[in-house]
Amino acid sequence: MFVAVMGYGTVGSGVVELLYKNHDSIVKKSMQESLELKYILDLRDFPDSPYQDKFIKDFNIILNDPEVKIVVETMGGITFAYDYVKKLLLSGKSVVTSNKELVAEKGYELLCIAKEKNVNFLFEASVGGGIPIIRPITQCLAANEIDEIAGILNGTTNYILTKMITEQASFENALKNAQALGYAEKDPTADVEGDDSCRKICILASLCFGKHVYPKDVHTEGITKISLSDVAYANSWGGVIKLIAAAKRLDNGKITVTVGPAFVQNHSQLANVDDVFNAILVRGDAIGDVVFYGRGAGKMPTASAVVADVIDAAKHTLKKKNFGWDNAEENYVIDYREQTAALYVRGETDDKEGVIKLLNGEIGAVRVLSLEGAPENELAIITNPATEGELRDKIENIPGFTPKSVIRITDY
Ligand code: HSE
Repeated sequence: MFVAVMGYGTVGSGVVELLYKNHDSIVKKSMQESLELKYILDLRDFPDSPYQDKFIKDFNIILNDPEVKIVVETMGGITFAYDYVKKLLLSGKSVVTSNKELVAEKGYELLCIAKEKNVNFLFEASVGGGIPIIRPITQCLAANEIDEIAGILNGTTNYILTKMITEQASFENALKNAQALGYAEKDPTADVEGDDSCRKICILASLCFGKHVYPKDVHTEGITKISLSDVAYANSWGGVIKLIAAAKRLDNGKITVTVGPAFVQNHSQLANVDDVFNAILVRGDAIGDVVFYGRGAGKMPTASAVVADVIDAAKHTLKKKNFGWDNAEENYVIDYREQTAALYVRGETDDKEGVIKLLNGEIGAVRVLSLEGAPENELAIITNPATEGELRDKIENIPGFTPKSVIRITDY
């Protein structure tokens, strides 16, 4: 059986390396007589690559080669990836991708085509890099109704926050290091503004709750506004700030899905997930909480998940793997302002006692956080859980108080 790889960037080059490095055991596990790389599609030249004879620049060579049964898509982005993957599936080839944008935006359509053509469309590497999460949700946890799923899904931002927490590093320096280590997206805006985490939680929410969730329906905040004083207040509260992507099933059949910085208590399993590591907590009705942890970005960890999908696709050539979700439904994801949340709020006031009294009256007793060396006019509080939109409106309308930072509090 022959395989092609489209996109020889960080992940694609890792996939090629791994296919050669562990060739014999990969062939054995695939239950095929052979599993060989035939083409690498990339518009760039790689004159020093040991795989010189594999490089091509024309996608149609792969599309029209009946020997190629499985194609790996590690190009990223939507435009070309969507066009190519759709054509490949329609032509009866299985596709394995690490492209979370593609799955989050086009997953339902591509899964439908794969089903119709009886081929596989697999994307274990699209969430959590090397961490097994798609397969555990669809297979090992299949007996559960999933109530909630939440995690640290972006290695770049977790690396940055870790450096801010442990070394008081500036955001800019930490981001430069993450880029140098190959964790960040080509445009790191997608990492730091939360879009990458958003795409990943959309995939997980679609899988867990059964209907396609689109990124446009998810309230998403990044970490660019987090200051070292918020980090210090989180510490005085007894926790750390993490970029949390979360989805929860509600009693009325709808779901909440949000991405944003959040206070996580020190004893939480998510609190000590540092650097490029990711962790995903799944709350099922039979299993309770289960946490998946590992390297969420980087060349070989992500290649590990891609190649595992290649093996799985090779094993399921006659009978495709049966998983997926239904089409999206309007108003299925509720507005984040309607969800229940407790908030951390840091703001400025010249009348702390007066503002605390007003807050207690408007939103119930608040917990005041103290921080050595904080400016005289700074007030930081923790609220009780309430409807998020109402809570935010009431706080913003307290006379004499100017909120500077608002961050959700988690309960896991
Ligand atoms: N930029 C992503 C991250 C890569 O930092 O997690 C893996 O999806």
